[in-house]
Amino acid sequence: MTPAMRIRIEEPADRPAIHAIHASAFGGKAEAELVNRLRADGDLSLSLIACAEEPVGHIAFSPLILAGTPSVKACALAPLAVLPSFQNRGIGSALVEDGLQRLADAGMDLVLVLGDPDFYGDFGFRAESASALATPYNGPYLQTLFLSEKGREARGPVTYARAFAELT
Ligand SMILES: CC(C)(COP(=O)(O)OP(=O)(O)OC[C@H]1O[C@@H](n2cnc3c(N)ncnc32)[C@H](O)[C@@H]1OP(=O)(O)O)[C@@H](O)C(=O)NCCC(=O)NCCS
Repeated sequence: MTPAMRIRIEEPADRPAIHAIHASAFGGKAEAELVNRLRADGDLSLSLIACAEEPVGHIAFSPLILAGTPSVKACALAPLAVLPSFQNRGIGSALVEDGLQRLADAGMDLVLVLGDPDFYGDFGFRAESASALATPYNGPYLQTLFLSEKGREARGPVTYARAFAELT
């Protein structure tokens, strides 16, 4: 992150750039379309961009329902992307850290992510603690971060926002 780079909540004018960031970083439109569907469904509970003059990175969070412990506030981190020409400068990490801080401040108990443990482990995400939750994505890449002690009470099955069911 350079001093000129800042992280802020998405605005309507950022939407084409957000779509382009995901399409470019993932090499396909699935994640970009996921963001659009989450937004259309009202399930984009936190959407942050990293930008200097133009947006270069984006992170999305969406609500989860935990059938066994409905009072535990939980969300999914997905997707996260940084434009290829801006990767490996700390922007992705800054988006994760900023997002997690905002969620903790808002009283979130638990965050689930599906991704590389080498990357997400640095922020405290752990695969072991996710194995107690029945989700559509169980396995070594599903990781949990507890933001509160209450998060440790979490029990599934876990229901993701509707848009994830259409992810191809
Ligand atoms: C993953 C991604 C968002 C990281 O963004 P970034 O701005 O490059 O990340 P940072 O510069 O903060 O990198 C932090 C660390 O993660 C590592 N890293 C980057 N991408 C990684 C990946 N895909 N898997 C594992 N580690 C990764 C970096 O090497 C760096 O390690 P270091 O601090 O030990 O040097 C970015 O590479 C990207 O958009 N990738 C394509 C889309 C994608 O795979 N998204 C993740 C979905 S879970």
